[in-house]
Amino acid sequence: MTAVSTPPGATRLGVVATEAAACTRCRLSEGRTNVVFGMGNATADLMIVGEGPGKREDELGLPFVGRSGKLLDELLAEINLSREANVYIANVVKCRPPGNRDPREDEIESCKPYLREQLTLVDPKVVLTLGNFASKLLLRTTTGITRLRGHAYPWWNRHLVPTFHPAAALRGRAQVLEDMRYDLGLVRAILAGESGESGEAGEAQGDGPGEAAKGEAAPEGSELVEADIDAAARQGQLDLL
Ligand code: URA
Repeated sequence: MTAVSTPPGATRLGVVATEAAACTRCRLSEGRTNVVFGMGNATADLMIVGEGPGKREDELGLPFVGRSGKLLDELLAEINLSREANVYIANVVKCRPPGNRDPREDEIESCKPYLREQLTLVDPKVVLTLGNFASKLLLRTTTGITRLRGHAYPWWNRHLVPTFHPAAALRGRAQVLEDMRYDLGLVRAILAGESGESGEAGEAQGDGPGEAAKGEAAPEGSELVEADIDAAARQGQLDLL
């Protein structure tokens, strides 16, 4: 009989999910139906980070299961990825903010250890952040998503690709969707090990984790200087987020 082994990261992820299911670290626990910890392949090369659960997600305990999630699945399918097989999906906060308001600073702080563990354990090659919230938090920048997107950033010896939240594409101009397609093209190119310089991914430069977008200036107004964050991260001087 062949033993089926579970990767250690996946086992630990299960332990953290169980811990989170009983979490009362912040006021969001008071109004939730379910903790929405995350879903997908615990050893995926791509991890997607959204903002926080909405109504449907709260009801089902799963991330991106409403209209935004349907669009996200379609965009992933266009680059031959599926949430079950090749992607791990999580949010910045694991409980629904009432009325879908923005998560507050203290709620984000309380929830950070879970996201930090997820990023460390899944250890993806590429992190795709959806929308302003997740993108600004992980890149430690005040620059908005409109200016951040369209590039891959070196981030903790991996690549971070910020893009719009699918909800913005659902209510916005057709251009938002086109921009998201471009950004997912960057993801596809990095996962395929393409340099991007001569391919359709355009600005996802470099040929391995930590090498993306070398030479590309940090967005104006950004608090992060890519070379610095990369070097500091390697030396363990910075918190992951
Ligand atoms: N929006 C998010 O940011 N996350 C979800 O899980 C659903 C909608």
